Amino acid sequence: MKTNIVTTASGKANAYALFFVKKSIQFSNVLSENAEKQVESVLNGMDEGPFEDLEFLEIDNQPTIFVNAAKERGLSSLDHLRMAAYRLAKKASKRKLPVVSIMLADAAPEQFKSILHGLYYADYKFDAYKSKQKEAFQVTFEIVAGEQTSAFKKIAEEVAVEQKAVILAKNLINTCASDLYPEEFVANANTIAKYTPGLSIKVRNMKQLEKEGFMGHVTVGKGSSHEPYMITLSYDGSKGNGKNNRTSKDHLVFVGKGLTFDTGGLCLKPPKSMPEMISDMSGAATVLAAIQAIATLKLPIKVSAVCCLAENAIGNKSVLPGDIFTAKNGKTVMVDNTDAEGRLVLSDGLAEAGLIGATHIVDLATLTGAMVRALGYAVAGFFSNDDDLALKVINCGEACCEKFWSMPLEEEYADALKDHFADLKNTGSDAGAIAAALFLQEFVPENTAWAHWDIAGTAFVSKTWKYTEFGATGFGVQTLIELARRKSKAEVECDENADTDAVQCEEYKVC
Ligand code: BES
Ligand code: ZN
Ligand code: ZN
Repeated sequence: MKTNIVTTASGKANAYALFFVKKSIQFSNVLSENAEKQVESVLNGMDEGPFEDLEFLEIDNQPTIFVNAAKERGLSSLDHLRMAAYRLAKKASKRKLPVVSIMLADAAPEQFKSILHGLYYADYKFDAYKSKQKEAFQVTFEIVAGEQTSAFKKIAEEVAVEQKAVILAKNLINTCASDLYPEEFVANANTIAKYTPGLSIKVRNMKQLEKEGFMGHVTVGKGSSHEPYMITLSYDGSKGNGKNNRTSKDHLVFVGKGLTFDTGGLCLKPPKSMPEMISDMSGAATVLAAIQAIATLKLPIKVSAVCCLAENAIGNKSVLPGDIFTAKNGKTVMVDNTDAEGRLVLSDGLAEAGLIGATHIVDLATLTGAMVRALGYAVAGFFSNDDDLALKVINCGEACCEKFWSMPLEEEYADALKDHFADLKNTGSDAGAIAAALFLQEFVPENTAWAHWDIAGTAFVSKTWKYTEFGATGFGVQTLIELARRKSKAEVECDENADTDAVQCEEYKVC
């Protein structure tokens, strides 16, 4: 798929695409008078004859595709545009149309952005394991943008960076576990750091982790022939980049669960739910992809990403149920269930976030089956100790067509984490997702805003959902990027106000 943003149609298109809702055409003030009349009569006659989404008709002697952008149940208005664009791109590719002009002169910037994301989603396929790779037909989408051409070009550059990150996360998640074990994930991260200006990387292997007391990784990873690793990626946009000299003072740290495979350990998982555990490193893949994009976009804020990598396997060194270890913050933990391993590696990730000076932490983890049962695949549950950060998560998610639902850090269930011998155990109340979040809270550095996203349901789908047919969805990548973008903007604007009239600026006014 290629895009080409132009002021007026080049005349080279094999088809024109028009978005319509009910009987009205959207986004286009560039039609000729004659074409407008024909379009009007087509849409008015819609009720009489069969008229389908993606119908091809002749308008002004040009083949024209009518794309139904009417709201789909449950999806936001921006997301139904993504879906409409996704369907259009699939159709254009199937029909082998070399050039399709999309008439978007009247689209708002965020509507154009959504359409572009939809086109990209249609292009993704993961066929690395197919014996024969089919060449997909390359469609060029000519975006007719009228007076918005230069603004749309800038947006298109951003969307390209965001989609590159989404694709990176999806590819890592979809790769099977014998090909993507912790060391191999590290190799990928090293390559990304090498080719992304401004991004640095620190890698700790098992020996270093043990020496420094990151025992969550050691406890989970020691049963596998593949040793555990922790990666810390850092990008510091707070020094400004010439254009942005006023920058955020925040240090946003993303922490990702990176279980390259989760057998459950000695508390073995049932076979049915095991193959999907290739996606148990989705958190780590998502934070790696997001920081790559944030560095590429040169956002004026300091961001780090910690990937907590291990394989939860069965071996003669595997952790035994009842074993007790001391976590990095000094608390002792009894491993009640070896399948509740994510929270153990994340205890190290949260400690690392504190050591590097996080002001805000967002951790992402395919943490609990309980979250899948509670919210399914369309909504991620999140927990936060900070109302401001919680509001930002919801707002940023909405802008990126990713749904979040705020869950309670219910104190009444905190006692259930207590163990007879150790300070804590890794299981708790029957409210499994809350129990896991309460456990993590024990490791959040003091005075740090924190949000925990349980993406167990949203990271990977086994049946078609929106623009993912099967496999990794890339959920979270865009919201993380948006969070960094808005936090940097909020801070910069607050600073400017503070200089002049000391106005306190509220996040939602800036967004
Ligand atoms: N990786 C799983 C959670 C999961 C389930 C992710 C389904 C994606 C889809 C996690 O490590 C796990 O097994 N959690 C246990 C915890 C329990 C033993 C306390 C769970 O949720 O069953
Ligand atoms: Zn598990
Ligand atoms: Zn797991």
